[in-house]
Amino acid sequence: MAFLEVASLQDIPDGGGLAVRVGETPVGLFRVGDRVYAMEDRCPHRDFPLTNGTLRGCVVVCAAHGWDFDVRTGFKPGDPDGFPIPCFAVRLEGDAVWVDVETVTNARRR
Ligand code: FES
Repeated sequence: MAFLEVASLQDIPDGGGLAVRVGETPVGLFRVGDRVYAMEDRCPHRDFPLTNGTLRGCVVVCAAHGWDFDVRTGFKPGDPDGFPIPCFAVRLEGDAVWVDVETVTNARRR
């Protein structure tokens, strides 16, 4: 798989998220101004969709129990040694949002 068109920029509220699926992968698209970030839409606590949460700047707060994650990095803020949520490559072409779920852009730091 490679980049697939998954949404239009207008579909994603500025300061919010949109849930899409790419194959079997639930993907959360999060918009901060003209930038879009893609992250697996599954909270590592109990699998709630993070797109149901609240986006505060670049940090999404899970609606279920309040765990928070930076949508730019997938890490919990202030915990760079933790295990991040997979973030995926995003490409914008005009208003079209393309995501490649095989290209994970983050990894656990050592
Ligand atoms: S499921 Fe997200 S904090 Fe519990």
